[in-house]
Amino acid sequence: MAKISLTVDGEKVSDEVEPRMLLVHYLREKLGRTGTVVGCDTSNCGACTVHLNGRSVKSCNVLAVQADGAEVTTIEGLAANGQLHAVQEAFRECHGLQCGFCTPGMIMQSVDLLNENPHPTEAEVRFGLEGNLCRCTGYHNIVKSVLYAAEHGSAHSEGAQA
Ligand code: FES
Ligand code: FES
Repeated sequence: MAKISLTVDGEKVSDEVEPRMLLVHYLREKLGRTGTVVGCDTSNCGACTVHLNGRSVKSCNVLAVQADGAEVTTIEGLAANGQLHAVQEAFRECHGLQCGFCTPGMIMQSVDLLNENPHPTEAEVRFGLEGNLCRCTGYHNIVKSVLYAAEHGSAHSEGAQA
């Protein structure tokens, strides 16, 4: 077992984990952050996307021990003070989801994309989301949501970490 200490959604946690444990399994099984989902387990779908020190990563592709000392934000830490993040609002406003399975990862990736490029073109949004798969929406409303969030600005910076 390996000792790890990290901050998840603004909360400090220390734990002992098997060195082979994936970050996504740690978040879901040990911390109950089931908003972060497993769609493939082979780093294809992006459903497991979280932020590690402010940048998006596919958490099925990161070991829990690699997050030692890091700040992790999941979809459950994005809203702050009862207020949805601007990207969450935009997905709601523009119907950027159907079944919602891909949505946590889509939103976490979109936030990172907008942090890097606050005013992307449609093509840049599509390129930025190429690692996130959706089986329902045809992507159109997802892209619209990200452009809407860019246009309407960020309600607040990354919630629970602030
Ligand atoms: S579960 Fe991580 S990319 Fe699909
Ligand atoms: S909304 Fe169903 S997979 Fe994207």
